[in-house]
Amino acid sequence: MIRSVVRGYGAALPKRVMTNKELEGVVETSDEWIVQRTGIRQRYIAGEGETTASLGAEAARAALDNAGLTPDDIDLVLVATSTPDNTFPATAVDIQRRLGMTHGYAFDMQAVCSGFVYAMATADLYIRGGMAKRVLVIGAETFSRILDWKDRTTCVLFGDGAGALVLEAQEGKGTIFDRGILTAHLRSDGTHKEKLYVDGGPSSTGTVGHLRMEGREVFKHAVGMITDVIEAAFAATGTTAEDLDWLVPHQANRRIIDGSAKKLGIPLEKVVVTVDLHGNTSAASIPLALSVAASDGRIKKGDLVMLEAMGGGFTWGALLVRW
Ligand code: ACO
Repeated sequence: MIRSVVRGYGAALPKRVMTNKELEGVVETSDEWIVQRTGIRQRYIAGEGETTASLGAEAARAALDNAGLTPDDIDLVLVATSTPDNTFPATAVDIQRRLGMTHGYAFDMQAVCSGFVYAMATADLYIRGGMAKRVLVIGAETFSRILDWKDRTTCVLFGDGAGALVLEAQEGKGTIFDRGILTAHLRSDGTHKEKLYVDGGPSSTGTVGHLRMEGREVFKHAVGMITDVIEAAFAATGTTAEDLDWLVPHQANRRIIDGSAKKLGIPLEKVVVTVDLHGNTSAASIPLALSVAASDGRIKKGDLVMLEAMGGGFTWGALLVRW
């Protein structure tokens, strides 16, 4: 059977780092409060000329280099983002243009912080359905541009960045020992809309709007939702927490990450954490974390890696991949 195998990875971050100390001059907060409640120590903030599409294209080029491929080898560019450069065309099409591609097709997916898991699951279906042989799956965000910089309950949490994977169709045996995506489990429940949303949009206010969040409510639901979909992925593949080499969670908050790992019995040494460096970069956080852990040699070919995310909507999902 056809499997969607990770052939390359890459990442891109804005030039400017913003530390917690620097945020103390923006809102009434402290490094100590932010580190203790979230684990975040710094985040990257896009400057002039840096956008979701520019960061996404840079990450895509890095992933292609890592894979030893060129844009000519790609059939589909799939971008997970909630902060597109324009309302339309899709950021994916803009990235396709920046890569010099005039062949193939490209579109965006919007599932907020779960966007990358949704995009990976979608790319897998396109590959296994025969509609693409190689897919660039990109998570790219500039959340700094939708933050209310007067609201200390949200502006300290997020950052900008992009990460990308190249997925390639390869023949597998149909067992859990195949390389590639083994299973994906997606969920959403729109009754939670008001707990995490942006208070603007083309069809409601005609403005971009700002991110609004009831942090405590999000926190309350996060661990249960994340562990549910991970358990579904274990059940579908007959695997357990002990089989995992790595858990690569969406990087929202250290306490959510630790709480989910603890509930699942996954030791913290097997959890990739980059929230301290990047903050919450929404759909970019998982591919950024994957790039960090693959480039420093932690994630190796053949490792069993669980990806998970939960975010606005609410949306949530988990995906098991053998690297
Ligand atoms: N600096 C200092 N004090 C602050 C700050 C800040 N940046 N923000 C809030 N406070 C204050 C509050 O005003 C409150 O003060 P009060 O007691 O005088 O009213 C106090 O700190 C406690 O506020 P809480 O909201 O109860 O703090 P909590 O411990 O819940 O931490 C946090 C807040 C970090 C947002 C937490 O709820 C959380 O992590 N929630 C999950 C949200 C999340 O990660 N969202 C990301 C998007 S969704 C996703 O990606 C999963």
